[in-house]
Amino acid sequence: MTRTFLIDTDGGSDDVVALIMALRSRAVRVRAITTVAGNVPVEQATRNVLYTVELCAAETPVFRGAARPLVKKLETAQWFHGRDGLGDHGYAPERRQPETIDAVDAMVETVLANPGMEIVTLGPLTNLALAIQREPKVVPAIGRLVVMGGAPCCEGNVTPAAEFNMWVDPEAAKMVFRAGLPIEMAGWHLCRGRAALDPEDIEKILALGTPLAEFVIRSNSVAAEAYRAQTGEIGISLPDPIAMAIALQPELCLSASRHHVDIETASELTRGMTVVDRLNVAGDGRNSELWSWALEARVKTHVCWTLDVAGWKAALHAALA
Ligand code: BDR
Ligand code: CA
Repeated sequence: MTRTFLIDTDGGSDDVVALIMALRSRAVRVRAITTVAGNVPVEQATRNVLYTVELCAAETPVFRGAARPLVKKLETAQWFHGRDGLGDHGYAPERRQPETIDAVDAMVETVLANPGMEIVTLGPLTNLALAIQREPKVVPAIGRLVVMGGAPCCEGNVTPAAEFNMWVDPEAAKMVFRAGLPIEMAGWHLCRGRAALDPEDIEKILALGTPLAEFVIRSNSVAAEAYRAQTGEIGISLPDPIAMAIALQPELCLSASRHHVDIETASELTRGMTVVDRLNVAGDGRNSELWSWALEARVKTHVCWTLDVAGWKAALHAALA
């Protein structure tokens, strides 16, 4: 049976690769794509998504969403993805326009009309937090929520404590992680080292010789440089496509465990940190007050710790072939 997806994205150079994977998969039907400010302002994110949908010859409706985080000022990642989010090569949609209804309304309507459907988030969680606020009935109607985000028990890519999507809108992330949703967390730690595309992987993709394959590599040219400057690692790190690969093929997550997870919103030093109760000590006297929301509601997140690297790369290649 075909699965139903809604994808929420901030339109960066790795987001568009994830969109291509989902739009080309026969296993899922993407009902809607919603955009959010993050890597780039929401107008640009929407343009990038429309361009990608066009490139895939898909008809998926695209809904423009939140232009800023719930509380904090918007901080983009144009230093990482390029000013236009796609490496500044001048990509622009020729005919597609976003739908007239707002992304948050579209999310609520789509979820209520398709109970049990799956959501994949590739950017800050602003739209989903607003949807939960607007219509709490969406919570039990979401069958699975795969979140690209967080740096569970390790360093982040924006600060030592936090990964970009959580850091940009920590208040939204906190609301989503506390809502009681069936969250699967694909953090930034999965996307580094051997998981990044190395020169041989890049050659293999380019050898496909298709416009999609070329777009995937070229749009990530600025991101590859920024990743090298940031981590010293050579290659193209693709967090959103890895989360999408796990969404499409859950078996690519080789090890996972369920824990209470909360998001730091108050501290300057650790803003957006994904605090994972990995040793399950939330119930101890020292912690139980702070974690009472999780203990009472029994809210746990499925945290993916390790990735089938060869499997993920094969999934990407197959999506482009
Ligand atoms: C995440 O932040 C963005 O730069 C990427 O698109 C991805 O969603 C990685 O931290
Ligand atoms: Ca993203």
